Amino acid sequence: MNKKRIAIFASGSGSNLQVLIDHSTQNRLGGGEVALVVSDRPASLAVERAKRASILVVALRPADFPDKISYETELLRALEREKIDWIVLAGYMRLVGSTLLHAYPSRIINLHPSLLPLFPGKDAIGQAWAAGVKYTGVTVHFVDEGMDTGPVIAQETVFIEQQDTLETLTEKIHVLEHELLPRVVTKLMGEDSIETSAPERLR
Ligand code: GRF
Repeated sequence: MNKKRIAIFASGSGSNLQVLIDHSTQNRLGGGEVALVVSDRPASLAVERAKRASILVVALRPADFPDKISYETELLRALEREKIDWIVLAGYMRLVGSTLLHAYPSRIINLHPSLLPLFPGKDAIGQAWAAGVKYTGVTVHFVDEGMDTGPVIAQETVFIEQQDTLETLTEKIHVLEHELLPRVVTKLMGEDSIETSAPERLR
C-alpha cells in the first residue's frame, strides 16, 4: 500500500519536525511518511534539519508575494506536485488561509502548547505561566480558519509544580509534544478517519 505523503510546515527551531523526520526514516509513522518540508523562513533551523535529512524543502518568504492568496497558491502548486495527502503544522507561525484549507479539508493538523481552548495564539506557555494555572498541556487539533480553534484530536496535561520555573515548564511541554505529535500522526495515518477525543480527565 502506498504511504500517505505528509508535508510538515515549520517556521522555527523544528524540534517537532525532527521527531517526525526520525519516525518517518525509521518507518514508525504508521501508513505515513514525511515527503516535504514547507517553511516561511528559509534561514530557519527547521529548513536546515530537513536538508540534513535529504527531505525536499519549499521555503518561500510571504513578503515576496503580493498577498496571502498568491503565497499559498504557490505552496499549493508544490503540494500538488509532490502529491501531498496531509499537512502537519509543527511550529508554523502563520494562520493558514482559505486556499490551503479548501484544498485540504480536514487534512491539516496543528500542534499547540496549551490545553485549548485555553491560551490560544502566541507564547501559550508564557500565557499559562503568567496566569498562574496549576496545569496546562499540549493539544493536537484540526486546523480551521481561526487561531487555534479547530476540533481537538488529542490533549495531554502537564502539572505545574511548586518548584517549576518557566524554563522547566517549557521543557516539560516540549518533551510531551515530542511524544504526542508522532503518536497522533501515526494514528491518523493508519485510519481513514479518527474520532475527536475528549480532553484527558483532569485530576
Ligand atoms: C511548539 O511548542 C509548538 O507547539 C508550537 O511551536 C513550537 C515549535 O517548536 N506551535 P519546534 O520548532 O518544533 O521546536
